[in-house]
Amino acid sequence: MTDASTAVPTPLVEALARAGQREVLRFWPTLDGAGRARLLGQLAVIDWREFETLRQLTRARHATPVPPPLDLAAATTPPCLALRDPANPIAPAAAVAAGQRLLASGLVGAILVAGGQGTRLGCTGPKGLVRVGPVSGATLFDLLFGKLRAIHRRFGRQVPLAIMTSSATDADTRQFLRDSGFGGLDPDFVHVFRQHDLPALDAATGTLLLDAPDHLAMAPDGHGGMLVALHESGGLDWFARHGVEHLTSFQVDNPLALPLDCEFLGYHALSQADFSTQIVLKREPQERVGIVVEQAGRHAVVEYSDLPAPLAAERRPDGRLRFHAGSIAVHCFTKRFLDRAAAREDSLPLHLAHKVVPFLDESGTLIRPTAPNAIKFERFIFDLMPLADRVTVVEIEARDGFAPLKNPAGSAADAPEHVHAALVDHARRLLAEAGVTVAEGIDVELDAATILDASDIAAVLPRGTHIDTPRVIRGL
Ligand code: UD1
Repeated sequence: MTDASTAVPTPLVEALARAGQREVLRFWPTLDGAGRARLLGQLAVIDWREFETLRQLTRARHATPVPPPLDLAAATTPPCLALRDPANPIAPAAAVAAGQRLLASGLVGAILVAGGQGTRLGCTGPKGLVRVGPVSGATLFDLLFGKLRAIHRRFGRQVPLAIMTSSATDADTRQFLRDSGFGGLDPDFVHVFRQHDLPALDAATGTLLLDAPDHLAMAPDGHGGMLVALHESGGLDWFARHGVEHLTSFQVDNPLALPLDCEFLGYHALSQADFSTQIVLKREPQERVGIVVEQAGRHAVVEYSDLPAPLAAERRPDGRLRFHAGSIAVHCFTKRFLDRAAAREDSLPLHLAHKVVPFLDESGTLIRPTAPNAIKFERFIFDLMPLADRVTVVEIEARDGFAPLKNPAGSAADAPEHVHAALVDHARRLLAEAGVTVAEGIDVELDAATILDASDIAAVLPRGTHIDTPRVIRGL
């Protein structure tokens, strides 16, 4: 048990001294046992070798901008396979059949990244707990887990799911899983693992920042933290024990995501890709999606914040943006590729973001800067793309698979009302495909756990059915 008399372990004192960071202990004499334990817990997970790298990056940022990962001026938008396009070099029907075989053989696992802080949305807990079901009020977790349950029902095999949490979302996510009976999933097929935090550094001095006397300003290390954390938590071996050969990853903020779409998985398998990814057509320069580019035979995702405005706005003679392959962060990797990447220390670079981070001044007063004062660091999983020998890019229609919740109500894009409208529109279109009409202005919702496509609707609603009150349609 740690009490108020706790001393700072000598190796830590030495490490802090070597790194010139002893100042973080300046409130130590005033801390109680719990406060001391809290601060020591944070300091214990700092890798001091990595800290030196963070500091150098912070300094370099002020001298020269971070070098771009590739020569964007020479990059192009890679060829894409579009879902259901008969012109694809692989026939859509063949891809669907191949994807079905993968699922029926239990060869596919899934990774849900749910460690983000939901800062833009303004939510305090995990985004997965936000209620988005247009009629049911189901949470993002409910809707996404439902997709895995529906695959289990149809193909008779469970899809092992690894959920990545962070210091910001771990406790609440685990609580949700306990309270909801794992959202209807079999606990043996769920692996929860927590990503690491990285310290935020003062942009001017490269030093650690305290945001409370007993607390360092730290933040999750980006969804790329999945690579190390999955490996360290035994997740890669866990997938292997379940016989998984392909891993599809997706984000918690997109209730329409199609990580287990058979045609997508089929293109991935039949093209023998190490890394496949879904894109939507980016129509306007200001859309906040990363873009998939190709240069010198390698693929990469360039984050929207890293794409210079003139390049983002450049259009081709046919009117399309030059860089129009909008990444929606639904990827599929071979397990072998992920294993190889996890074994390398340098697989993922660090990205820097200049952010506003409240901090304590010398006297212990909390300063809330009005302009960015600190550097935060993140790794992105899509930075594995250039390491892949074969990449397959699959274009989907945004209305079928992309309705991200990013911003608070009233925002111009990606707000709860847009997600609501997209889910209702999707349900109405599938109902129409099954010959079911819905009265104007009526909200309908498809139960994610029982309805994968129009055939599941046809099994419960005869053609010609008319719906005129809000309703959740459940399959058999
Ligand atoms: C992200 C992508 C962007 C893509 C868009 C599509 C990045 C850096 N950018 O943008 O290219 O076009 O989604 O919607 O990914 N997360 C973690 N741990 C973290 C940080 C994030 O698990 O440390 C998770 C979040 O929970 C969320 C996802 O990653 O599910 C996206 O993170 P966010 O930072 O919101 O990225 P966007 O700016 O939305």
